[in-house]
Amino acid sequence: MGASKISDSKMPSIAVIGLGYVGLPLAVALASNYKVTGFDKDQGRLREIKAGFDNTGELSRTQLGIARLNLTCDPSDIADNELFIIAVPTPVDQDAKPDLSSLISASKMVGSVMRRGSIVVFESTVYPGVTEDVCGNILSSVSGLVSGKDFFLGYSPERINPGDQTHRIDQITKIVSGQNDAVTNTLKAIYGSVNGNNIYIAADIRTAEAAKVIENTQRDINIAFVNEIALIFDRLGISTHDVLEAAGTKWNFLDFRPGLVGGHCIGVDPYYLAHIAEDAGITPEILLAGRRINDRMSSALAKRIAGFCSAKTRILVLGITFKENVPDIRNSKVADLVKELEKLDFEVDVYDPLANTLETKEVYGISLLDQITGTYGAIVGAVPHSEFRDIDPAGLLHSDGLLADIKGIWRGIQLPDGVRYWSL
Ligand SMILES: NC(=O)c1ccc[n+]([C@@H]2O[C@H](COP(=O)([O-])OP(=O)(O)OC[C@H]3O[C@@H](n4cnc5c(N)ncnc54)[C@H](O)[C@@H]3O)[C@@H](O)[C@H]2O)c1
Repeated sequence: MGASKISDSKMPSIAVIGLGYVGLPLAVALASNYKVTGFDKDQGRLREIKAGFDNTGELSRTQLGIARLNLTCDPSDIADNELFIIAVPTPVDQDAKPDLSSLISASKMVGSVMRRGSIVVFESTVYPGVTEDVCGNILSSVSGLVSGKDFFLGYSPERINPGDQTHRIDQITKIVSGQNDAVTNTLKAIYGSVNGNNIYIAADIRTAEAAKVIENTQRDINIAFVNEIALIFDRLGISTHDVLEAAGTKWNFLDFRPGLVGGHCIGVDPYYLAHIAEDAGITPEILLAGRRINDRMSSALAKRIAGFCSAKTRILVLGITFKENVPDIRNSKVADLVKELEKLDFEVDVYDPLANTLETKEVYGISLLDQITGTYGAIVGAVPHSEFRDIDPAGLLHSDGLLADIKGIWRGIQLPDGVRYWSL
């Protein structure tokens, strides 16, 4: 088994490639103990970070201000690094197939600068085999070095949950896996420096890749289950939130809530698993059924809400981001809901103080309100941002308006006579 050059080194220099939701907090955390260079191909993103602004909302100006981080978009600036950590996006394409293009280009770039003895660790969510069979091969062919002998691979999936203040990078167990024991131990020490050595060593790289992809797939399937029962109970006139509260008193009942599944992880990662399953000759059933159910929720909800509204009702949708308390609008299923409502000929306004107005217009063609004025025939609580809990929906509704509380933000609210309440 080959040893890595940096396994004996106390203070390896680290390059983190891809400074988004995952890469930036990691780079900043590692920079407390190591010499870290953050690399991103997006110069605008680098400018913002240099100016002390993180548009993902994960890091404050203070945190960025004190971070000892070098920033660059020039590959030659990271050529001397010993450890490369790659955290670039892994979305799906229009056919819901894995789009590995960012991973491939980042691997090519690292392959062009890395040296003998380098370790290259991937944090991006992938299907089992990508690190070794796709990225490892690219690194080899570009660098002319041999994987497992001249350079070494590792995989350490990221589990951070943007907007979640209780599961921060320094508080959660980190899975690591290296191509050999020396690399694994190096990664254990480096990542352990960030989270009080709360490290789990996976059996091997494929196991670590598989563990990450099923974590998110499991959530998708569980949410699909509650979404399906929510549609059934709605038809039966039973409140799903009440049912879940009652069932939740059993010790082993799993706490999942109905809603729209968007974003770049839970709604995407099952397709990565489905892809490798099909490649292996297995047709996945439950994975894709879960995806279908969750993807259909926007139109199912739009039709249900439409059933309560008369023609041309003005509807206010609260929230456009893919989940609560984040500015991230990627793969937002609320945007689909808005489109569905518009197709049904309703006039729809959208308010989301966390989302970027320009980006929302550019990506979805939706103009966000600066502020809420006037009253509406219906309000749809689509994303449970904390600050929406302080809104008095009755004050924004016509006297016979509808409060469609998809996420149960206002469960139990007292509404004036005439105002209708509907939730799953
Ligand atoms: N965001 C999350 O909650 C989360 C959690 C766990 C895992 N992940 C996974 O982590 C990975 C990264 O996700 P993210 O949310 O941080 O993405 P992101 O879009 O927030 O950030 C990715 C960054 O990588 C940069 N980039 C893209 N291609 C590049 C390249 N070739 N070279 C250099 N920089 C490049 C982009 O400019 C961007 O700044 C994905 O695989 C995702 O599935 C994300």
